[in-house]
Amino acid sequence: VIGMTELLLDTELDDEQREYAQIVRSSADSLLVIINDILDFSKIEAGKLNIESVSFKLEEIVDRACRLLEIKAREKGLQFDRKIADEVPTIFSTDPGRLRQVLTNLIGNAIKFTQQGSVRLEISLTAKGQAQQQLHFAVHDTGIGISAGQVSELFSPFSQADTSTTRRFGGTGLGLSISKRLVELMGGRIGVDSTPRVGSTFWFDLPLPPGEAGNPA
Ligand SMILES: Nc1ncnc2c1ncn2[C@@H]1O[C@H](COP(=O)(O)OP(=O)(O)OP(=O)(O)O)[C@@H](O)[C@H]1O
Ligand SMILES: [Mg+2]
Repeated sequence: VIGMTELLLDTELDDEQREYAQIVRSSADSLLVIINDILDFSKIEAGKLNIESVSFKLEEIVDRACRLLEIKAREKGLQFDRKIADEVPTIFSTDPGRLRQVLTNLIGNAIKFTQQGSVRLEISLTAKGQAQQQLHFAVHDTGIGISAGQVSELFSPFSQADTSTTRRFGGTGLGLSISKRLVELMGGRIGVDSTPRVGSTFWFDLPLPPGEAGNPA
């Protein structure tokens, strides 16, 4: 569907036809995200989601996760910053695709639920050493925040703070529950500190053993 719509968009269309085709294109993208989330969720439930372990450059993962989101933030007029603390080593071994997925979910949420102000990603080293090296990832936003009563439910599947049919924000409520499972499968933990109408910080701690410098993915 996406491929054919793209071909269609390359043909000569009048304004009205182009608008409709663009709506098909973006709806197809949204559907793809939902299908992928549901597949991931089922795989996790079935215990079939395997976590890889390869050496990778942290900065590269962060770059890939942030590239598209940075544009989204800018379109919304939000400031977007990221900071990897100086003491954080460059190469780790873990599952780069899954780490990127968690970052994308958290940063995507931060942008979605923030109307003005900023979104900031911070990465720091909280434990050193071959065996227990651990990183702390934090995504701060100045968005709508979450009340204390809602926090406990957020990480369960399909739960969203605002379930009214008039709610302003899209999504199915799977992002955080998938992120929580992925972080736990990687041996870490995830949490949130939030103040309604002031902002939220979604964070996770991950044990990340040093990677081999020889051949980072
Ligand atoms: N940064 C944030 N600020 C305020 N509320 C948030 C934030 N991140 C998540 N939430 C709340 O937690 C709920 C669950 O988040 P989750 O990512 O699981 O679902 P979603 O973003 O609504 O949908 P999906 O991720 O499946 O597209 C959101 O609907 C929202 O109410
Ligand atoms: Mg989400």
